[in-house]
Amino acid sequence: MAEYHEISPNASAPAKLLNWVDNRFPLSTLLKEHMTEYYAPKNFNVWYVFGSLSLLVLVLQIVTGIFLTMHYKPDAALAFASVEYIMRDVPWGWLIRYMHSTGASAFFVMVYLHMYRGLIYGSYRKPRELVWIFGCAIFLALMAEAFMGYLLPWGQMSYWGAQVILNMFSAIPFIGPDLAILVRGDFVVGDATLNRFFSFHVIAVPLVLLGLVVAHIIALHEVGSNNPDGIEIKANKDAKGIPLDGIPFHPYYTVHDIFAVSAFLFVFSAIIFFAPEMGGYFLEFNNFIPADSLKTPLHIAPVWYFTPFYSMLRAITTEMMYVLMACAIAGAGLAVAKTRMPVIFKAVIVGITVGLVAMMLLVDAKFWGVVAMGAGVVILFFLPWLDNSPVKSIRYRPDWHKYLYAVFVVNFLVLGYLGMLPPSPIGGRVSQVGTLFYFGFFLLMPWWSRIGEPKPVPDRVIYKAH
Ligand code: HEM
Repeated sequence: MAEYHEISPNASAPAKLLNWVDNRFPLSTLLKEHMTEYYAPKNFNVWYVFGSLSLLVLVLQIVTGIFLTMHYKPDAALAFASVEYIMRDVPWGWLIRYMHSTGASAFFVMVYLHMYRGLIYGSYRKPRELVWIFGCAIFLALMAEAFMGYLLPWGQMSYWGAQVILNMFSAIPFIGPDLAILVRGDFVVGDATLNRFFSFHVIAVPLVLLGLVVAHIIALHEVGSNNPDGIEIKANKDAKGIPLDGIPFHPYYTVHDIFAVSAFLFVFSAIIFFAPEMGGYFLEFNNFIPADSLKTPLHIAPVWYFTPFYSMLRAITTEMMYVLMACAIAGAGLAVAKTRMPVIFKAVIVGITVGLVAMMLLVDAKFWGVVAMGAGVVILFFLPWLDNSPVKSIRYRPDWHKYLYAVFVVNFLVLGYLGMLPPSPIGGRVSQVGTLFYFGFFLLMPWWSRIGEPKPVPDRVIYKAH
């Protein structure tokens, strides 16, 4: 138990209150550890605002979600009308609903930018592997949260989007069809599905998300933040043990983040007030039509933030399976021929490859599409162990790495764009190439990240006062 601290009877009332609390709860200690004495590198740039902005959107989603839940009816017969009621009759209901629907897209914009920052500055590397892994788990939870939330308005896209995605479970060999029924709670998406999605969306997944975000920040504060130079500031400390290149998070970065919050709210409000549907990207037009299990919309597309992964799903055709088999055989052949390892390991690699190719031949491409879509996210968890570059930050990597990362971004955007369009022969081919590039980028990273001469990394961070 911490020591009891007496305070002078002449102290001010707020000081006495704080002392009273501190003797019972480590409030000042927590504020010191995470704010006033959390030393963050002084060279943070604009990429470092997206963590706080993600946190802001999380809070916005929870608060607006609470108010929506007061008026929403999780019942297949009432859900659509209850959303219309919120939009038309509940005082300020339209604002709360648009904040929540725009918030979903804003969340993904912030999180994608936040993840990209981690990618370019090597923030996932030792000692921040767990920060990254918690982040990837957050991303998965966020996708589940958005997917389940989208069913709730019970429009045509809610209904048919869920139908398409939940049907994918049936592609899993042996257990698939039963699993799909278990998840839906019925033979088709229906009232049971709506009820369980509601309960997951409003309580189960948000709880997991909050827990993961707390773990994410605790893990980050344990090891300290990375920075655009990818240098460990803890390597240079003064006599008091304070990093020479560190500045207290509060007030320096609270002010930085408040500025970012105002810029964010400016854009966020502009969207809510002037373009809440965002031309069908944030709220799809078909979702203004009530769900009808007898009328399939001509084109079913997920919301934009899922489409890069949806493109990967569609890219896996029977024809593409042959390309993947060739890649698996070539990869295993190279590993066996080029690396020095005991024969027994080589035999295991050959065995696994033969088994994999046999499964690829036997199981339908639809299943492998689902695998590709999941693998597109799961592969991110392994990033800390795929990158072998001697330096962390893109700043000190060979120049061609920058071009490669640029191609990665363009490829991800193209996959996202194609995932929104109806299937077409050319689009299909481009998605296949894009999918191969996406996985090649990560799977070949252990090899390519080592190639080329890195630039000399300075001992201290680069910082120009402005
Ligand atoms: C709800 C979503 C999330 C919230 C609220 C959140 C919050 C934060 C905050 C406040 C920071 C410290 C400030 C900063 O460095 O920007 C941070 C750092 C970090 N986050 Fe997240 N995060 C989220 C999602 C993710 C995801 C999805 C990933 C990656 C898959 C991720 C990876 C990281 C990494 C690697 C750092 C350390 C960056 C560095 O020190 O350079 N985060 N996060």
